[in-house]
Amino acid sequence: MKRAYRCSLTFLALLCMIKVCELCSSVKASRATKFVAEGSRLQLSCEVLHCGLPGWTGGWVFQELDRAGFTSLTPSKRIEMSNYTSTANGTHLFLRIHNLNQTDAGAYKCLIYWPDSVTSSGHVTYVNVTAGA
Ligand SMILES: *[C@@H]1O[C@H](CO)[C@@H](O)[C@H](O)[C@H]1NC(C)=O
Ligand SMILES: *[C@@H]1O[C@H](CO)[C@@H](O)[C@H](O)[C@H]1NC(C)=O
Ligand SMILES: *[C@@H]1O[C@H](CO)[C@@H](O)[C@H](O)[C@H]1NC(C)=O
Ligand SMILES: *[C@@H]1O[C@H](CO)[C@@H](O)[C@H](O)[C@H]1NC(C)=O
Repeated sequence: MKRAYRCSLTFLALLCMIKVCELCSSVKASRATKFVAEGSRLQLSCEVLHCGLPGWTGGWVFQELDRAGFTSLTPSKRIEMSNYTSTANGTHLFLRIHNLNQTDAGAYKCLIYWPDSVTSSGHVTYVNVTAGA
């Protein structure tokens, strides 16, 4: 009886650890393909689940069509980035690109570097820029 009890406690502790691993140090974003008209605005978001731990860095990366590898996006007149810490555990990252043109077509995702030098990225959003009206 006592042994079974200890066993289930161990099991619960393990379950908790796995759960925490899942919830911390990860990035949540939905996989999607978006069709956005030339000249309009693209808006994307992802959620960084950090469980309140400091020291993570990173942001949005972009892969141009027919190019290998992602490059970091930096804010500019057209590219706006912001973030919002919604709970103690998570921060939402937002990306807004104004006046979209064909050079913005490609793949976008959040790429986060954790303090232990592990990286994680959210699902990729593919953006097709369609001819404007
Ligand atoms: C969040 O926004 C603040 C203020 O604009 C900025 O200083 C910080 O670098 C941003 N953090 C991330 C992870 O984007
Ligand atoms: C934050 O994470 C902790 C530990 O995983 C959890 O107990 C708590 O409920 C979470 N809080 C929110 C607001 O999700
Ligand atoms: C698209 O935007 C980029 C970045 O601002 C700019 O360099 C390029 O000239 C634009 N292309 C067109 C066709 O407007
Ligand atoms: C999106 O654009 C790419 C490159 O132009 C094209 O290969 C692909 O078929 C497009 N996707 C859809 C669903 O039309």
